[in-house]
Amino acid sequence: IMNDPAKRTAYIEQQEKFEVELQRLESNALRSTNALIRIPVAVHYPSGGALNSTIKTCLRRLAQKQIDILNADYNGTNADISLWSDVSANYPATTTGSLNIQFVIATQNHPAASGLVDGDLAVTFGTNFLNNADTDLTWSGYCNLVVRNITGGILGYSPLGGSPSGGMTVVIDDNAFGAALSPSPTTCSGYVPGAPYNKGRTLTHELGHFFNLRHTFQSCDGANCLTTGDRVCDTPPTNQPRYDCNAADSPPDPAVSGQALSTCGELQLTMNYMDYVQDACMYMFTAGQATRMLAWYNSIASQLTTTALANETFLENQFSIYPNPNKGSFTIEFKELANSFSVEVYDITGKTIYENNYEQSSNLIQVVDLDNPTSGIYFINIKSDKGIVTKKLIIQ
Ligand code: ARG
Ligand code: ZN
Ligand code: CA
Repeated sequence: IMNDPAKRTAYIEQQEKFEVELQRLESNALRSTNALIRIPVAVHYPSGGALNSTIKTCLRRLAQKQIDILNADYNGTNADISLWSDVSANYPATTTGSLNIQFVIATQNHPAASGLVDGDLAVTFGTNFLNNADTDLTWSGYCNLVVRNITGGILGYSPLGGSPSGGMTVVIDDNAFGAALSPSPTTCSGYVPGAPYNKGRTLTHELGHFFNLRHTFQSCDGANCLTTGDRVCDTPPTNQPRYDCNAADSPPDPAVSGQALSTCGELQLTMNYMDYVQDACMYMFTAGQATRMLAWYNSIASQLTTTALANETFLENQFSIYPNPNKGSFTIEFKELANSFSVEVYDITGKTIYENNYEQSSNLIQVVDLDNPTSGIYFINIKSDKGIVTKKLIIQ
């Protein structure tokens, strides 16, 4: 970015805009809450072109799993945030922070060149996305996640202050994306998350960079904690990363060991997402980091496409299925008319057992009869011009 004069100028301007917004948030103490942010996401598996439909179905589930982890971590609703209360007394100057944010895989008005239609998830396979570069203007306006083999032991990387209008991406290694799926199949061949980086937190970390966060181990602080180190005042400064959950120095406990103090003389916030610890022992952003991320979001929000996400009400409760469980015959009842819609039922291995398109005229009710299905757990996708919904279907 910095080697290309036009991109360099845009980058510097973006950072200046961010600084103004950060000042505004800091001076108005606007840090505690924010109006719901919805981020349209596209997920790309650039080397997945030759995969069969079963594995593609698996990889769409893996993408959604990763998004679920992201939403938990960014909203502070991850289960392991409860660990903070055990150690918080050691960090009197630090409070946890979160955003009110939903990352959503886009479902409509996809870029024409993608070949995707309304109702499809914005998940691409083998499109030679990026041509091995790290930006692609076809997908400008999205939060782009690229999943591919990264060599050299790197789990992921991101621009520091990412710009959706520039088609920028966050890249995650194909063995560090998502986490175990449920129900079976619990992994997708070729994309198996590898311990100890198998809880989806590489993306939590990299997106922190995309939202303009530096590592907590950037450097020791100078006179001003807002302009030196990681530029966040409620993260104790350090200049070395921590890696190992099980090492005696993590989580640090000054009562147990003097070595827990970082080389900057403070207790290291090892459980922060912007350190380097293993997935299982990172579980929090600080309030100062959340403010900084909000300032970055506010300064780039206008770059995000506004038409790629269906409105939530359709996704949540636009129809019901009954009875469920059933014996293979069930009714889909819509709350509102959709012009046309399609129904797909697939089993837990991703194999499609039923597919049909319907034209809806004035009838809100559609009966579906499956042909003698084996009992078990299935998924049903209902797709209309308003989006796509997946629900669990149990056949007895
Ligand atoms: N860019 C860092 C690396 O590749 C990512 C660290 C992510 N840490 C994690 N626990 N997932 O090393
Ligand atoms: Zn990093
Ligand atoms: Ca700091």
